[in-house]
Amino acid sequence: MSPSAIDTSQNGHAKHVDSGSSIFEIEDTDLSRLLDKPRPINIDRNRSFDERSFSEMSISLSPPRHFYRNSENSSRTFDHIDSLYSTSIHGFSSPRSNGFEPHPIVFEGWEALRRSVVQYRRQPVGTIAALDHSAEELNYDQVFVRDFVPSALAFLMNGEPEIVKNFILKTVHLQSREKKVDQFKLGEGVMPASFKVLHDPIRNSETLSADYGESAIGRVAPVDSGFWWIILLRAYTKSTGDTSLADMPECQRGMRLILSLCLSEGFDTFPTLLCADGCCMIDRRMGVYGYPIEIQALFFMALRCALQLLKHDDEGKEFADRIVKRLHALSYHMRSYFWLDIKQLNDIYRYKTEEYSHTAVNKFNVMPDSLPDWVFDFMPSRGGYFIGNVSPARMDFRWFCLGNCVAILSSLATPEQASAIMDLIEERWGELIGEMPLKICYPTMESHEWRIVTGCDPKNTSWSYHNGGSWPVLIWLLTAACIKTGRPQIARRAIEVAETRLLKDHWPEYYDGKLGRYIGKQARKFQTWSIAGYLLAKMMLEDPSHLGMISLEEDKQMKPHMKRSASWMC
Ligand code: GLC
Repeated sequence: MSPSAIDTSQNGHAKHVDSGSSIFEIEDTDLSRLLDKPRPINIDRNRSFDERSFSEMSISLSPPRHFYRNSENSSRTFDHIDSLYSTSIHGFSSPRSNGFEPHPIVFEGWEALRRSVVQYRRQPVGTIAALDHSAEELNYDQVFVRDFVPSALAFLMNGEPEIVKNFILKTVHLQSREKKVDQFKLGEGVMPASFKVLHDPIRNSETLSADYGESAIGRVAPVDSGFWWIILLRAYTKSTGDTSLADMPECQRGMRLILSLCLSEGFDTFPTLLCADGCCMIDRRMGVYGYPIEIQALFFMALRCALQLLKHDDEGKEFADRIVKRLHALSYHMRSYFWLDIKQLNDIYRYKTEEYSHTAVNKFNVMPDSLPDWVFDFMPSRGGYFIGNVSPARMDFRWFCLGNCVAILSSLATPEQASAIMDLIEERWGELIGEMPLKICYPTMESHEWRIVTGCDPKNTSWSYHNGGSWPVLIWLLTAACIKTGRPQIARRAIEVAETRLLKDHWPEYYDGKLGRYIGKQARKFQTWSIAGYLLAKMMLEDPSHLGMISLEEDKQMKPHMKRSASWMC
């Protein structure tokens, strides 16, 4: 447990006991209020949510350290495991245990996660994307910023913040390098998609080499990396109570550079962020160019995290003002135009077109004929979601998992919208969860549409990979969203489904098929974020107070002219 441990022993109400700082208190009161919502969750860590969760999901968060000592197979991993533990700033070496034997999958998961840790100059700095030696490596031997997030959160929840701190400092250092694609210089704030450690056996030295999109397939810069970096910095600060990392000039500058990139003025008429295809988790051509929900939700969350982390000096204040204005405009735009439920669908179905002037109802001139047939069947009477993209005469009605979950976690979704998203997941269980959680998007594109939209991508064939494949990593986002909306039973059901296969199948990167029944055509095995995502989901279910690390309460931070200390409190 981290020093900002939450005491949940009285009345199930969360209260920080030893952070020595009041800046977290109000937010945690919010969390406990939130957890007291309609279907309350018992956040007393000494008791389980119900009998079932203890008998079927008994968890010790990580195998005890002596496990590694006794395990012949993992003797190779002693060094970095030891360094991870011995350098823990909290000075304890055994991961928490609630006295129960770990679930065998949890046990194996932690072992695999620790094997994926990458060392740089004898310090842990991240986790490799996949440890699958049987497959072609491509760039899976690198530390991806987005992939490291679930690993980082798992380490934070297990009271091991050091690797996260190292990662944050190394990546902010990489951000300051000059980056070029051919002769074109990229923006200063661009964070790498991934990096790797290069060993020079002659000089016996190590250096870091990073990819900002200039080596990536398709040469797209990762817009999401900078946002995840800010979100992780806030998670670290929240979890450890250590504000000194975020306060470092490097980190303040890193944040400001990212913000400068995405808050700069241009020709935009919308507050959403205009992006190229493939600039996020879906890093190939998949028709997500324009204003993809994944980026908009991460943008919103990163802005809110930055508002909490920016120092209140002149520069910080200037950014805070710009952030607050953007947050207002962005939330209005997203909640109004990206939101789809049965009523909204019916309205679009009946839209008039070619309206001119401020009074137009169909502002983007969307043609009702562009509504795909599937959306009428997919839309339940109860439920709704943020659609994939909105731009002039173009609405991408696909459902995307990451964007919708992050919308819930960041409170971009209103509480009503958040429960509607959960309702839809329940109502469309077969389609979205099926036999392996969780669809990256729904539905798939086939034949002509696949040819036109993906450019005939053989990896993204129908119901595979990014094109309607099922990605185990997404379980952590689903679980966090379930806890936030007071519906942990949905996550529990999904995890049970995943548990039947994940370990047996060696933690694949993704599954294929309409129901996610088949291990993905080109899926890597021992994909680190599949492992970390599962462990994280289990930890959050066991102790929902962890949610505060990755969740933000409703809009209070958006009030203009906020003082920094006050912004932490909301
Ligand atoms: C694939 C995924 C991307 C991930 C990378 C490494 O390219 O699309 O989101 O970061 O693999 O796992």
